[in-house]
Parts: sequence; structure tokens; C-alpha cells
Amino acid sequence: MNGRHHRRDLNQSLQQLYPERRRVPLHGLYLCEDLRAHTTDDAVYIYSNFITSLDGRIALGSPGSDDLGVPRHTANARDWRLVLELAAPADAVVISGRFLRQLGAGTAQAWPPFSGNAPEDLLAFRAELGLAPQPTVVVLSRSLDLPTKALTALRNRRVIVAAGDAAPAERVAAVRATGAEVLHAGAESVDGRRLSSMLAERGLRLIYSIAGPQVLHTLLSAGVLSRIYITTVLRVLSGTNYATLASGPLLEPPYDFVLAGLYLDSHGPDGVEQMLQVFDRQP
Ligand SMILES: NC(=O)c1ccc[n+]([C@@H]2O[C@H](COP(=O)([O-])OP(=O)(O)OC[C@H]3O[C@@H](n4cnc5c(N)ncnc54)[C@H](OP(=O)(O)O)[C@@H]3O)[C@@H](O)[C@H]2O)c1
Repeated sequence: MNGRHHRRDLNQSLQQLYPERRRVPLHGLYLCEDLRAHTTDDAVYIYSNFITSLDGRIALGSPGSDDLGVPRHTANARDWRLVLELAAPADAVVISGRFLRQLGAGTAQAWPPFSGNAPEDLLAFRAELGLAPQPTVVVLSRSLDLPTKALTALRNRRVIVAAGDAAPAERVAAVRATGAEVLHAGAESVDGRRLSSMLAERGLRLIYSIAGPQVLHTLLSAGVLSRIYITTVLRVLSGTNYATLASGPLLEPPYDFVLAGLYLDSHGPDGVEQMLQVFDRQP
């Protein structure tokens, strides 16, 4: 996509449908929400976002590879702009060990937001809030089988790796040698509640998870996810090797949300419509 095309794509407005009906610009759509107002001295506010097809595919496998990826028929520049806007006020972004391995192998679709080429307006937004140019990266990993190359490449920002108490000592040492902090935040796996209080203790209160279905399940099962942004591209993809929003044991009781915002965007991938939805945890 060339620069001109890109700018034109981002300049088209969209239709807000809820709570009010009005035309709104894409730029600033998610940035103007004062997420930081939800945090307190000892309470974190954790939010996440996903782009999905109408049939619920957040990721699809490609032939000859074990790796899943965001489908090329749903990914688009307008949604990516909103991802960057959501990252703009964040103290920390959460990623998975699997994603870090993809970064190390050079197969990741993108680096975490603000790794480079961040839009000027969003960098200025962070500076005005007195935030570091790049949010802290929090990596969740059970195995701690993490490429030091990728951890080192992230060292211009604060890096925290959250693992279970039983994580192998030699791998903990290898991660620490890259300058990253290691937190033991659960028995075998990271527990979302322990993680959120450890992040709060470190002054990290506004936490944006850009990880996938297992990490979302970790946050839901601990009851610590406050909001989720979902972009639904009005396309059916099918396919048999795919991931959906959350993956893990049945959530009992289920995790319930209320609709906080709804937008219809007529300029999704290939001009296909997409719905932008904001859901808050039901109080
Ligand atoms: N469409 C979208 O908006 C969207 C958003 C995010 C991701 N995705 C896609 O979804 C796929 C999977 O993404 P992902 O790798 O970020 O997914 P994930 O399923 O959330 O993360 C899996 C990895 O995270 C670590 N992990 C998860 N929960 C943990 C816990 N409680 N404690 C310790 N470690 C934990 C483990 O790392 P170790 O293996 O290191 O132990 C695990 O292998 C990718 O294809 C990605 O592109 C799509």
C-alpha cells in the first residue's frame, strides 16, 4: 500500500450507531476515550482488541506451516490505526511467548505498537502524558523458550517476562541476562490476578493486551479484563485450521459484557464493511 493510498484510506469518516448516531472521523476515534481515568493508585485497567471475520476467525493457518496468522482478508490499515490509538495511552502492552518467537524468527506480521514508525500525533500524545515513547512490553510465557535476539531487540523499552513459579532456572537466567525483568506470577501458568497486582506494584496501570486466545482466556478466567474492542469484517472465511477469540477451559460462569460503542465502517479491506464494537465488562 503506498503512502497516498494509505492516507486516503485513513481520511474516510465512519458512522457511529451507538450510543449516538453521527458521522465521526477515524482519527482519534479510540484515542479520545480517557482510558486512564479508569485506573486508580492500586487498580489496573486491562483491555484488549481483536479483528475477526464474520465467522469468528481471528487467525488462520497457512498451508505448510504450523503458525496461525491474522488473515490477510481481514487485516487492514484502518483497524491498525485503531490498534495504535489503543496502544497510545498504555503503560504496557501484553504479548505472548509465541509471538516473541515469531519476532525472533522474523515471521511476525508486525512488531508491537510503537516499535518504529509510530505516527507523529500518537508519539506527541504519549509525550504530553509524560509516558515513555514506547510502552513496556509484558511477555507471558510458560515455557520461557524465548529468543534472546527478540528480547534484546526490544531493549530500548522496559521488558517484563511473566512466567510460572516452576519456570526452569537456566531459562530465567537467560531472560534476565537480556536486561528483562522476570516475574513469577502463577504456579504452572501465569495467573491473571497475580499478574495484574504485580504490574500495579510496578506503576503499570493501563495495560493493553494484543495477545491471542490463550492470554485472553488467562485474563477472563481471572476476572481482570475490563474492556474488549472487536472489529468484525463482514466476510466469511471458513477454513479448518483457525483460532477464535478465547481458548481454554469453559468459563463458568460465562464472562458477560455490555455494549459501550458501535460503529459501521464502509472502508474495510477491499471496501468490505466492518463493524467496530466496544464492550465493557458487565458490572
Ligand atoms: N485477529 C486478532 O486480532 C489477533 C489478535 C491477537 C492474536 N492473533 C493471532 O492469534 C494467534 C495466536 O496469538 P498469540 O500467540 O498471541 O496467542 P495466545 O494463544 O494468547 O498465546 C499463546 C502463548 O502465550 C503464552 N501464554 C498464554 N497464556 C499463558 C499463561 N496463562 N501463562 C503463561 N504463558 C501463557 C504461552 O507461551 P509459551 O509457549 O512461550 O509458553 C503460549 O504458547 C496468532 O496467529 C496471532 O496472529 C490475532
